[in-house]
Formats: sequence, C-alpha cells, structure tokens
Amino acid sequence: MMLAPDLLHQIYMNAKTTSSTGPSPSSRAVPIGIDAIAFAVPRAYVELSDLATARGVPPAKYIEGLGNVQMAVAAPDEDPVTLATEAASRLLSGAGRSPDKIGLCIVGTETAVDHSKPIASYLHGMLGLPRACRVFETKHACFGGTAGLFNALDWIASGSARGRSALIVCTDIARYPLRSPGEPTQGGGAVAMLVSERPRLVELDPGRSGCYSQHVHDFWRPLHRKDALVDGQFSVQCYLEALSGAYEEWRQLMGPEAASSDDPLVRTCYHVPYGKMARKAHQRRCQLDGLDEKTAEERFAIEVAPSLRLPSQVGNIYTGSLYLSLLSLLSAEAEELAGKRIGLFSYGSGCAAEFFAGRVGPHAAALLQAMDVTAPLRNRQRLSIPEYEALRQRDADQDQRPAPPSAVTPSDATAAGQRALYCGIDPQERRVYTWQ
Ligand code: HMG
Repeated sequence: MMLAPDLLHQIYMNAKTTSSTGPSPSSRAVPIGIDAIAFAVPRAYVELSDLATARGVPPAKYIEGLGNVQMAVAAPDEDPVTLATEAASRLLSGAGRSPDKIGLCIVGTETAVDHSKPIASYLHGMLGLPRACRVFETKHACFGGTAGLFNALDWIASGSARGRSALIVCTDIARYPLRSPGEPTQGGGAVAMLVSERPRLVELDPGRSGCYSQHVHDFWRPLHRKDALVDGQFSVQCYLEALSGAYEEWRQLMGPEAASSDDPLVRTCYHVPYGKMARKAHQRRCQLDGLDEKTAEERFAIEVAPSLRLPSQVGNIYTGSLYLSLLSLLSAEAEELAGKRIGLFSYGSGCAAEFFAGRVGPHAAALLQAMDVTAPLRNRQRLSIPEYEALRQRDADQDQRPAPPSAVTPSDATAAGQRALYCGIDPQERRVYTWQ
C-alpha cells in the first residue's frame, strides 16, 4: 500500500507522541534523532603527499584534486569488528549511557567479516548488550549505515523502543588495488550513534526524506575479493544523479519549507568518498536551486567545508563517511548551529541515496566537548610507503591467521577504555578477539 507523503509525515508526528509504554494519544510531540556520536580509526595512517611521491604524481593532485590529506591504514589486528567495538564503547562511556538501555543494535557495513554471522553479534557480546535486544547487520554499499539509522527511527516511532535507545554503528575498511586511481581515497574507521527520543545532538525529520535508487555497476566487490572494483568517473556521475533525484524529491515533500528563508538549511553534510566529491555535490545542489557557480563556491566554503576536516584526515570510511562528516561539522560549529537546520545526503553505490534534514540541539556543543570526540586522531602512527605496502601484503592472508590457543573472545563483557584486537581464527574458523 502506498502512503501519501502528508499521511506518512502525520504518522511520524503522531508517533512522536510515544511514551515509554508505547504510542499515546496525547498531542505531546517527542522529538527523535541522534543523541550522541563517537568514532574510531585505525592506529596508523599514510600522508597522501608521501603516497603521491611514491606513485610519481604531484601531491597537489591528491590534496587539491581529491581534497584529502591523509588516509587511515588498518593493521592486521584491526578489522571492522574491532573498529565498531571501539567506536561503540567510546560512545557509551562518553555519553554516560549504560548498555542495559539498548534495545536495538544495527551494524551497517560493506566489509563484513563473515557471510552469515553479523558484526552486530560480536558487538553485542563484547559490549555486554542485553539479551532482549534486536541485533543485525545492514548492507547497501555506503548506504548501509543510513539504512540502519532509518530502521532505528522507525523502531522508535512505532513505539517498539519502549524508552530504550538504538545503537547504530557504521564500520568499514575501504580498500582499492595498489596503484589504482582509487588508492588515494582509501581509509578505514567506524562511527557509532545512539538514536533515541529527545536526542541531545540532532533531531531528525525522518518522515520527509527524499530517496533515489537505480541498478548501476559503478562500484562493486565480488565475494572473493578484498579490494573493491570501481568505474571511477562513472561512479561520480551516479553519485551526482542520485543527489539530484533525492534532493528533488525532498524539495517536493517539503514544499515551500524547503526554501524557507526563515529556517534554511544552513549547512549540509554529504557522503564523502573524498573531499572534492562533496564540493561537486554542493555545486550540483546550488545549480538545482538556480544559483550561479561563484555563489556555489562561496556557499561551499561556509556550508560544507567545516564538515570535511575529519574525513580529509581519514579517507573514505564507506558507511560511516556521512556521519564522520556530521561529527566533523558539529565538533567545529555545534555552538553556533544550535537550533538551526542542516541537510544530510547519504549515497551508496549500486545505487541508493537519501536526502534528509535535522535540527542541531541546544546543548550539542557541550556534549561533544565533554566526550572529547576528536581524540581518536591524536597520537596516530605515520607509516612510510614501504611500511604501508608491507601491511597490505600481510593483510592478504590475515583472515587465515590461526589465533594463539590462549586467545578467547570476551563475551558479555564491557571493557571501558580498552581496545578490541583481532587475534586470528580458531580450528573451527571462528574469529577470535581479545582486549588490550
Ligand atoms: P583520478 O584518476 O584521480 O581522476 O580518479 P582525475 O584525473 O579526474 O583527477 C581527479 C581530480 O584531480 C580532478 O579534479 C583533476 O582536475 C584534479 P576535477 O576535475 O574532478 O575537479 N587534478 C589536480 N588538481 C590539482 N593539481 C594537480 C592535479 N591533477 C589532477 N596537479 C576518482 C578520481 C575519483 C575517479 C578515483 O579516485 C576513484 O576511482 N575513486 C574511487 C571511487 C569514488 O570514490 N567514487 C566517488 C563516487 S561513488 C561513492 O561515493 C561510493 C563509494 O563511497 C563506495 C560505496 O558506496 O560503497 C566509493
């Protein structure tokens, strides 16, 4: 059954009246959205100027041409499970939230470690989440995390949450073949978000998001491969086409509110495979809004550039990329953005996209400061290009590494302040982790 957009929005507004005992007929509006956010990155990184020199291209091609300065590189004991666990435990301890209050745990990833067992299940055990908790993994390239986020909003809006929060974690290690055009856009990391009623960071408007999907082969990774395959220039076109489609639908759903000068979208966070892509995206949107190129450039500097600082130091983290851009924006400007509306654009190759909006909470800046959200970027180890290439070589057979007999996956344990490490596989090919 198709629901008219107005009716859909009304259902969300009604659902915003839910209390801890389920939907209530009262007219009290309860906002829903992102309550807190945290991220994790691998311990090491490569300077793109070093990579450019090694690949015989001018550093300006990567730094100005692509808009990135560094890329995160995972070590053999780091994988999407360890990154997800670190981001989620930082989130819970930083936001002062107990694992007992989580009723839904979704991990969005396109670099899963098992065809069957989801990363969310490892996370559930390692964080000691309650048994009465729905736990699963979502996939649609970089859109997988957004699929999880919208699932969580629906879960809360339906009344199923009964006062509990959802834990949404986006985790990936982005890899392309060495010396390919995609190589300087690699990265890795995880972003964890608590989604709840009365969110402290960003109230979302999920009943009114613009969607776009199309079957295209712009980027894919067959089951036997660790490195992604991509039709690079085509993928840029697909991204821009999906943005146009999703943004047009959002504008239609919003009606005159979309262009309201009283309550405009003052910033926009995009999916950031590399910084220049977000710049092209904003130019496209400005064009759709009838603005000229010069105005689009001026707007980019104000409306988008602050969200690109952290992504430029980490590279593409696939599912988490949009949310790292949100974290970058809020860590820089949450105070002045309090009460203002921002846009968000999620893109996943293949392809699926969504444009939606949110409102920054009045105390977001204080919360992020208390959580010390940018701490993961301090004290990282810079790798030389031979060290990075040697790691890539070792990574080729990482999944087959036998775990030491003494290593056991911690179960139902919380390890605040500790880092999860991948040890290898046991004789039954089960992955084994430990805490450091
Ligand atoms: P390339 O071969 O580096 O392309 O590949 P290029 O030669 O066009 O150069 C890139 C830019 O650098 C150009 O700027 C050049 O002018 C500039 P633009 O014309 O685009 O504005 N340039 C220089 N600038 C300053 N000084 C210089 C210089 N030389 C050149 N000396 C490409 C670029 C993005 C195709 C490649 O990196 C790639 O294949 N990346 C992977 C795919 C990708 O990131 N696609 C993005 C859209 S799809 C997406 O976002 C989904 C994704 O995240 C996956 C998922 O959903 O799961 C990837």
